[in-house]
Amino acid sequence: MNHLVSPSLLSADFLNLNADIEMLNESVADWYHLDIMDGVFVPNISFGMPVIKAIASKATKPLDVHLMIVDPDRYVEEFHKLGAKVLSVHYEACTHLHRTLQHIKSLGMLAGVTLNPHTPVSVLEEIICDADVVMLMSVNPGFGGQKFIENTLDKVRRLKKMIVEKGSNAKIEIDGGVNFETGKQLLDAGADILVAGSFVFGAKDQKATIAGLKNL
Ligand code: DX5
Ligand code: ZN
Repeated sequence: MNHLVSPSLLSADFLNLNADIEMLNESVADWYHLDIMDGVFVPNISFGMPVIKAIASKATKPLDVHLMIVDPDRYVEEFHKLGAKVLSVHYEACTHLHRTLQHIKSLGMLAGVTLNPHTPVSVLEEIICDADVVMLMSVNPGFGGQKFIENTLDKVRRLKKMIVEKGSNAKIEIDGGVNFETGKQLLDAGADILVAGSFVFGAKDQKATIAGLKNL
């Protein structure tokens, strides 16, 4: 029961962000998951620097920033200055992933690498000891509210095995389609961090839903 919960603000009420951040501050959420999209790496555009700055000014817990952008190296310093504590880049968007992860860590942030649903965990074999977080997409990135891809459970088991065998300290984060049912299955498979967007923000009692995910 010591896993983390990172609600995704992609499903927050953007007309009432203030209230949503207050709710998260008061909740048992561990991190705030911020989805950054560029309309190129994924077929959607979310929000950018001014919004992150506003969120950072009020958030009382670490910002978990998920970059769904091409060539993320261009923005590592800027996201650090904006207050990111965890910065995750996509494996599919990095030509020199080792350098990118070292750069993120050199600034004092946790370095995360994210895999799309079709990318096998085996591509991480040579880099697993350099990552603080491995995030597996359990939906195709770009949109909230999609259906959980079941194959992710197998991927988690295989990734966990690799982490143990290689002696890595990487934590396994899962993003997409997380609810009480899939969340429990993911934790049983070896996940450490659950991201949840629509399940949290679409709930009647959001704080209770976060607590429910935390108590799985
Ligand atoms: C999708 C994002 C997710 C999204 C998850 O590209 O990376 O973080 O907010 O949304 P749900 O939890 O609704 O699947
Ligand atoms: Zn995300």
